[in-house]
Amino acid sequence: MIHIENLHKKFGELEVLKGVDLDVQNGEVVSIVGPSGTGKSTLLRCINYLERPEKGIIDVDGFRIDAEHHSRKDVYTLRKQSSMIFQNFNLISNKTVLENIMLSPVVVQKKSKEEARAAAEEILHKIGLSDKINAKPSTLSGGQQQRVAIARAIAIGANVMLFDEPTSALDPSLVGEVLNLIRDLAQTHQRTMLIVTHEMQFAHTISDRIVYMDAGVIVEQGSPDEFFNHPKEEKTKQFLKFYHLKDKE
Ligand SMILES: Nc1ncnc2c1ncn2[C@@H]1O[C@H](COP(=O)(O)OP(=O)(O)OP(=O)(O)O)[C@@H](O)[C@H]1O
Ligand SMILES: [Mg+2]
Repeated sequence: MIHIENLHKKFGELEVLKGVDLDVQNGEVVSIVGPSGTGKSTLLRCINYLERPEKGIIDVDGFRIDAEHHSRKDVYTLRKQSSMIFQNFNLISNKTVLENIMLSPVVVQKKSKEEARAAAEEILHKIGLSDKINAKPSTLSGGQQQRVAIARAIAIGANVMLFDEPTSALDPSLVGEVLNLIRDLAQTHQRTMLIVTHEMQFAHTISDRIVYMDAGVIVEQGSPDEFFNHPKEEKTKQFLKFYHLKDKE
């Protein structure tokens, strides 16, 4: 579960988040769409405090932080409530696939190496990458690297998964395998997911709800059918028109 209330974030003079309110229920899949530079990544990064908001409430799976009053330990606890999947995978290049996946369970969660290894092997088997267990990330395709990054996020065991354009760095031919994995995770594992994406077709099929962000605020939200077929706000209509044109190219 994610609860965000009146969230504000500035970079210097630039006001990027201007009072964002958002709720995501347990097991719900919500996609955030919107033009470039409107604060989508910043919002996601604030949820696990990769960016520090100036004001607002963030509650992830029952752990609540007030941006104006919190300790370092609070930030550390909040971070453990979610796991993030980045556009550029962010795997550690000099560690193998197995070591990347085991790192957080061993170092942060203090699991035994045996237990972490067994769990990592099982996840790799499920996502069809058992043969890459001892490979270094640089020897994998982009799609495989992103699937390993998702495996690492699964191993962390947080209920809440945050995806920031998980397919935008991929060759178009590799997008499908990553989207299929995310779809499978959403359907069979009931994770709570917040996904920033420009893949409208994917957002349409996977999401319980679509959130449209523009210029630091949430302009409109609704079910995929409401959002894509019956948008209410003028800004949303303009944004979707652009995507319809792109689809026809
Ligand atoms: N670390 C930073 N320092 C200064 N400005 C930043 C920083 N990160 C983001 N910004 C600015 O904040 C605004 C919002 O950026 P953000 O990355 O959240 O947009 P976005 O909606 O994710 O865009 P995109 O769809 O292109 O990924 C932009 O104007 C960006 O230049
Ligand atoms: Mg972004």
